[in-house]
Amino acid sequence: MDFLYLEEIDSTNKYAKEWVNDIKDMTVVYTFRQTAGRGRLQRKWSYMGEDNIYASIVLKPSSEYKEVYSNLTQLLCVVLAEVFEEYGVESKIKWPNDIRINGKKISGILAEGVGVNDKEKGYLLQGLVLGFGVNLNTSNEILDKIDQPATSLNIETGKNIDKEKFLKNVIDKFCLYYNNFIEEGFLLIREDYLRRAEFLNNEVAVKVFDKTYEGIAEDVTSDGALKLRDKNNKEHILLIGDIL
Ligand code: BTN
Repeated sequence: MDFLYLEEIDSTNKYAKEWVNDIKDMTVVYTFRQTAGRGRLQRKWSYMGEDNIYASIVLKPSSEYKEVYSNLTQLLCVVLAEVFEEYGVESKIKWPNDIRINGKKISGILAEGVGVNDKEKGYLLQGLVLGFGVNLNTSNEILDKIDQPATSLNIETGKNIDKEKFLKNVIDKFCLYYNNFIEEGFLLIREDYLRRAEFLNNEVAVKVFDKTYEGIAEDVTSDGALKLRDKNNKEHILLIGDIL
């Protein structure tokens, strides 16, 4: 993996998307000063100071889009959870890709695809941008200003975290899985994912675009989709969405 460090940027995802054709496959665009971070569902990702990570992995696995690409956020989730465990911290995954510690968010992932429509060849994927932010060294004072419960690795461990080392560790682990994951898909990590899932057998509301599904989260399928059973006993297989 190559690293592209930016001293300051509005959003590493936005930058990676804009420059996707100039950025090599397997490049990590990262900064410690992100001024206008983006989150899922049109939310923003707050700037938590320079001792935290703001990064986007640029991947160009093929020019045609494959379903497995949408599961890469779940792979990154498992990788992050494994790295937290190396620091002695147990984390839980909220489908599809939120990581929380005791109900408090510690990282966020935003995946975006960039492509063009070619008249003859149809949709051509130019690159995938897998953005992630991790709270590594933050104070309770800053965390309290966020609109949802949040924590940081230094608070969970009681120690200052080396941000460069953390980032390298995440990327090394991600690379270890990556090729097999593209070949084998979500099944490669399903057990590791489920072991950390905090939503299973709970009553949940899932937002999919402008529709909300409510029911019991029963399982995660071999494709990484959420299996939900509503009050009329109807089963829904949700491939995308966010648990509210
Ligand atoms: C979320 O939980 O809503 C996703 C947040 C993703 C934040 C990261 S920080 C680095 C990258 N650049 C962005 O603008 N967003 C992602």
